[in-house]
Amino acid sequence: MNNKYNFRIIEYILSALIILQLVSCKTVAPTDERKPMRELKASFDNIIPVPVSINPTGSIFRLNPNSIIYIEPMNYETRFIGQYLKDQIKSTTGYGITFLTAEAISADENIRLIIDDRDELLGQEGYELIITENLLTIKANKAEGLFRGVQTISQMLFPLVNSSAPLSKDVLIPTVEIKDYPRFEWRGVMLDVARHFFSVSDVKKLVDRIVLYKFNRLHLHLTDDQGWRIQINSWPNLTIYGGSTQVGGGVGGYFTQEDYTEIVKYAEQRYIIVVPEIDMPGHTNAALASYPVLNCDGISPELYTGIKVGFSSLCINKDSTYIFIDDVIREVSELTPGPYIHIGGDEAMATDSVDYINFIVRVQDIIQSYGKQMIGWEEITQSRLKSNTIVQHWRKSQLAMKGVHQGSKLIMSPSTKAYMDMKYTPDTELGLHWAGYIEVSDAYNWDPVTQIIGVSDKDILGVEAPLWTETVLNFSDIEFMLFPRLPGIAEIGWSQAEARNWEGYKMRLANHGAYWKAIGLNFYRSPEIDWDWIIKISSK
Ligand code: ACM
Repeated sequence: MNNKYNFRIIEYILSALIILQLVSCKTVAPTDERKPMRELKASFDNIIPVPVSINPTGSIFRLNPNSIIYIEPMNYETRFIGQYLKDQIKSTTGYGITFLTAEAISADENIRLIIDDRDELLGQEGYELIITENLLTIKANKAEGLFRGVQTISQMLFPLVNSSAPLSKDVLIPTVEIKDYPRFEWRGVMLDVARHFFSVSDVKKLVDRIVLYKFNRLHLHLTDDQGWRIQINSWPNLTIYGGSTQVGGGVGGYFTQEDYTEIVKYAEQRYIIVVPEIDMPGHTNAALASYPVLNCDGISPELYTGIKVGFSSLCINKDSTYIFIDDVIREVSELTPGPYIHIGGDEAMATDSVDYINFIVRVQDIIQSYGKQMIGWEEITQSRLKSNTIVQHWRKSQLAMKGVHQGSKLIMSPSTKAYMDMKYTPDTELGLHWAGYIEVSDAYNWDPVTQIIGVSDKDILGVEAPLWTETVLNFSDIEFMLFPRLPGIAEIGWSQAEARNWEGYKMRLANHGAYWKAIGLNFYRSPEIDWDWIIKISSK
């Protein structure tokens, strides 16, 4: 070997590296200098769902590391909201600001969170955000409204995420007056934890993702053919055996009652009501496999790890079935501070139709005996419903209308628009496509009131986006199926119909894409959205 030759090569490589470094220093430096000017400006052009009214007032509020959050009145709930805002500001700007009561100090350039029960129009969840040169104020009738308003501030700060700006610079927030309240009471997301199981921390992370878009319901599909995921003390085998696997045959899992309570509390603190679903009489193979007594012939089937539907049924004419249901509903009710229990009722193809009708009426009585309000998929409308029973529409308009005619309100989850488990296009790796392909525009361009002929505003409780998980294995998959479609469902549920339009929405969504990239959220880069338009504009 020629050592001298080797030495020359090393010399070349070293000098090439030095030159590269010099070149890169040269090119990076000016970009960094430009960054603070471009990135320290918050914006109200990004907000999803779009607020009821936005009136820019043409000046600037300066947020700086000395800003203080005043809270009035200060209590457990409002302190949590103040802390939440503080954390959001910290994660977007790096400012570690403090907060105090309203009485303690009065000064300019501060943030005020105020509960002031005077504006009827704002209702339970509405808020007013008034930003002047000196003060940033959120006012609401209830703590819940303050929390929704804090999400608006968080979104205004999106452009600052990952900013390399020095801490000494103020964040410039354009002055504005925003008045905002929801169109519909029910704005939900459903996660199927039965087909594939997801951990407590995954569910909490999902809560964090959806509060940003002002969702207020988390429906957990807790039981299905492939797994029973909620511990029932009086029937322990449901989870020990019935929760031991999942689609594809992997190890399943389940929530202990403590786990479940932890999720409910986490969601409740963020003004989200958890809606537990125990699906019956179909979708019950995991229960039937766990207890022979639940089967008409006294023989349990095998556990099931495929993705077929419509083959299982509880034994309708057996007393032990109703002892079982009573025990399950009692325990689930005890774990549920919210008013709702969802009993599924969908795709009961293995149940005789007269039996089905009687079964739903009996279960409705059990739910009411525990002081809860029943929700079921639209198939339940074949039975006689109490007028406070809620019907969830997914596929057949005639069935949903049967519910309306009985005085029930509808949660709108049309599978061709709102099913987050449908593929975006034929090329999407995850998802199913029995209801069609749902691109971002499909999920956005529909209205709950005009979706079914004959339905009017007063019949609609709201909207919900279900995510079934036959093909969804982990949190990254959850994100990919939900984003960017889910913010569209949020806007349909919250914003006024006349305030929505696809062209404007597309631009706002692109801004959110930049934020998602910055925080590492996995989303589908739909070709319908120009994800780079801000970069193109700001580099002009
Ligand atoms: C459903 O998708 N089976 C409600």
